[in-house]
Amino acid sequence: METISLKDDQKEFSLPVVTGTENEKGIDISTLRSETGYITLDPGYGNTGSCQSSITYIDGEKGILRYRGIPIEELALNSNFIEVADLLIWGSLATREMGERFTNMLTDNALLHESLKHHFEGFPFDAHPMAMLSAMVNALSCYHPVLTKPHNPKEIEKAAAILISKIRTIAAFSYKMSRGEPFIYPKARYSYAENLLHMMFSLPHEHYEVHPEIKRAIDIILILHADHEQNCSTSTVRMVASSGANLFASISAGIAALWGPLHGGANQAVIEMLEKIHSGNLGVKKCIEMAKDKESGFRLMGFGHRVYKNFDPRAQILKELSAKVFDVLKHKDPLLDIARELEDVALRDPYFVERKLYPNIDFYSGIIFRAVGVPTNMYPVFFAIGRLPGWIAHWREATATNRLQIARPRQIYTGPAKQSYIPVDQRSHT
Ligand code: ACO
Repeated sequence: METISLKDDQKEFSLPVVTGTENEKGIDISTLRSETGYITLDPGYGNTGSCQSSITYIDGEKGILRYRGIPIEELALNSNFIEVADLLIWGSLATREMGERFTNMLTDNALLHESLKHHFEGFPFDAHPMAMLSAMVNALSCYHPVLTKPHNPKEIEKAAAILISKIRTIAAFSYKMSRGEPFIYPKARYSYAENLLHMMFSLPHEHYEVHPEIKRAIDIILILHADHEQNCSTSTVRMVASSGANLFASISAGIAALWGPLHGGANQAVIEMLEKIHSGNLGVKKCIEMAKDKESGFRLMGFGHRVYKNFDPRAQILKELSAKVFDVLKHKDPLLDIARELEDVALRDPYFVERKLYPNIDFYSGIIFRAVGVPTNMYPVFFAIGRLPGWIAHWREATATNRLQIARPRQIYTGPAKQSYIPVDQRSHT
């Protein structure tokens, strides 16, 4: 067995090395504290493996992303979102019969319980749809108390179908709420992406016809978002799952984590940045200068990634897809030109080159959503719908054990040393 030695002033310790399928190496420190008294310190977990996982493989240096071993480029070209969801959750591509069965389950679960629908009335009209999504997904556990036995594949399949189908209905209904429009119900014969757009954009008196290329583009976007191993929201799902929390509660927490502008909220932030440039409030040059100036607190949104240090394969697919969508819609958007200019300038600037900062998936996804007519605050919602199968797969993997181990990191305490309590009339604020 391969080991690594660790030495302090008095002793040498030997730690086992764990090797993954693609020869990636990790030092197993699970006995470090008990044997040495030390812990490791790694804020942001950039050097910490939290688990072993067989779901997704990423090589950030080479720009590789594979779901269950299959390259993302092949899935984007040949597969569809529901097949990818099945693949991520169950580990292999479904047969035709299995695929049809799961699709039928999604159709059967597309509606929301009538009482659940009333929850929407409790939200203000301008509520952010991510807040509604997180709350409504958590509320699903009140209406569907499945998963009494988390290892039972039938129950997981049922819960997965409920979630994957209903999240789309919740998303569309929250959009309708924000517009003061009546809810539109899903149609059984529509594909997943088609139904999402139909429920968002159709009106009782006016049917929204979804162009096949747009339907396909949204499907591809969902595929590209479907999993990304131990990112912030997925780690959140696994962390919450480790306490024994049910699937709905764990996913609700993942949605909250995804909402942040450094994660799934970045696609909205990209468009807001491009709009500022377009309105003349911020020039491309000024934007680049500000991004380089640490004092400004500004970052070039849609640029950089914790893992990809060469290129983000998803961003490359989306860049091509955005051109196709614009072609189909005969759409011209000055923001696309600004995005291309920004990308061009940044990729030639030593600041970005030296730090290996490239466009990430969010840089182009927002531009496509905008062309389709999706409002900016719904972008992270589309991201959440896409990421859902990955979250479910990770929840399943994290809980598939008889000995659930609660995730509980340690810390290095830096606060005051022991001090006595001071009664209130003896305190001074000097
Ligand atoms: N603009 C300007 N500078 C940046 C950017 C950026 N977008 N991203 C990173 N940097 C700089 C940092 O300031 C740092 O510089 P320094 O070495 O001089 O201190 C260096 O590049 C490394 O950055 P880190 O913060 O260490 O990178 P990290 O891996 O922690 O962060 C992150 C990755 C959060 C994605 C970051 O690049 C970022 O904030 N990007 C903008 C937001 C964004 O697009 N998020 C979407 C991520 S993808 C997703 O969630 C699907």
